[in-house]
Amino acid sequence: MHVIHLSVECFPLAKVGGLADVVGALPRYQRKLGLDAWVVCPFFDKAFTKERVFGTIHQGSFMQGNEKLDYEVLKEESDPLGFPLYLIRIPGKLDREEVYCYPDEAEQWIAFQHAFLHWITAAQIVPDVVNCHDHHVGLIPFLMKHAVDFNHLSSVKTLFTIHNGQYQGWMPWSKGILLPAFDTWRWGLLDWDGLINPFAAAVKCCDAFSTVSGGYLQELYRDANGLEDLIQSESQKGYGIVNGIDDEYWNPEIDTLIAKQYKKSAVKSGKKSNKKEFCEEAGLDANVLLLAFIGRFAIEKGADLLPHIIENIFSNSDYKVSIFILGSGDDAVQAGIAELLDRYPGQLATFFGYNETLAHRVYAAADLLLMPSRVEPCGLNQLYAMKYGTIPIVRGIGGLKDTVIDVEEEGGYGFVFSDADSQCAAEAVLRALEVTADPNALQKIRQREMSLDFSWDKSAKEYIQLYDQL
Ligand code: GLC
Repeated sequence: MHVIHLSVECFPLAKVGGLADVVGALPRYQRKLGLDAWVVCPFFDKAFTKERVFGTIHQGSFMQGNEKLDYEVLKEESDPLGFPLYLIRIPGKLDREEVYCYPDEAEQWIAFQHAFLHWITAAQIVPDVVNCHDHHVGLIPFLMKHAVDFNHLSSVKTLFTIHNGQYQGWMPWSKGILLPAFDTWRWGLLDWDGLINPFAAAVKCCDAFSTVSGGYLQELYRDANGLEDLIQSESQKGYGIVNGIDDEYWNPEIDTLIAKQYKKSAVKSGKKSNKKEFCEEAGLDANVLLLAFIGRFAIEKGADLLPHIIENIFSNSDYKVSIFILGSGDDAVQAGIAELLDRYPGQLATFFGYNETLAHRVYAAADLLLMPSRVEPCGLNQLYAMKYGTIPIVRGIGGLKDTVIDVEEEGGYGFVFSDADSQCAAEAVLRALEVTADPNALQKIRQREMSLDFSWDKSAKEYIQLYDQL
């Protein structure tokens, strides 16, 4: 079976969030299971593309409104990522440094989708399934059925995978003329509340849609940023498949980015060495429990709650704890955290920015990881944490609820709290500090979570079963 994943992020080409990790790993695990999985992404002017040699395998051009766009499809000769990665380059549109936040984003993603369909049509590539990831490529299921030049692809199955339903790619109808010519009788499929909504169009036109956890699918029926009715009416096409992690890259046994590698049986000494090395560098006390937050400073991630949570924890003098925050995003959140640095020297340290290597080191060093998310379709950080024997403290929603069981339940290995407020989160942290202050309890929970299997092997099979079903 031939499957093409379409996405605007893919690790290590371009990463903003977990979408990149999924697209950079899932296809490799699918190939191990015998599937011919490819990935197609936009070209970016980034280190990844600068360091490598790509050949042009196809060139073409098409009209986007009044503008003639030339594109080329690039590929490395070998497949160093473990799957064929094709990059679509369009000078002036798809050749930039950043993934998001350009004012002409709508034009960029329309061009990407058009070029993809133009290329596979010209090259007579007919996959069995096109797996579209998030709204950026949400027009594909519609275009494959109703675009005049591409409806020969109408029998190719489409799966729309939802990593984040908050963003839907809305654009005014004035952009409609930029789309490849389509059967105008079908315009209603593109529309939601008077705007072109690529996310809604994908849900309407795909053969199936999936969310990155079962819990998140249930949540979308109640809260999908205005699309609840649509998700409910299309529910027969909806599936939840929880993400896995790439344990060739996120694995303390073989991780070359951390100070000392360790197995489950040596987690205690392994984490101790990593913590010592890390805390020395960060200026933190290595003799107390280390709590970490890793992630984007976004409302969805509950990052705005962090300053209050930190103050709340430190004002509770019963527990000694060091806190490390790694992230970037909202400036106000960053300023709120930065303000606390002077007040808690030696107790609080930060790295403001995105640093993949540092993230590995923090997972290896920390005892506890906090995720106070408001929305979390799956969440990968709690899975990475558990792989490294770091105990997650999470809000019980979406994928967090599906993957973390509270220690108070049978077989539990984490701390789960209910409300997205700083009080509730801080209470959960204090509860975790109390439980894990006992070295035996800490060790038992670590052992338990490190025995769990969150690798892609299982989830990759579920995707294949779903493709088969289509
Ligand atoms: C998005 C979601 C996150 C999920 C990731 C990968 O970033 O916010 O919860 O884990 O996509 O699917």
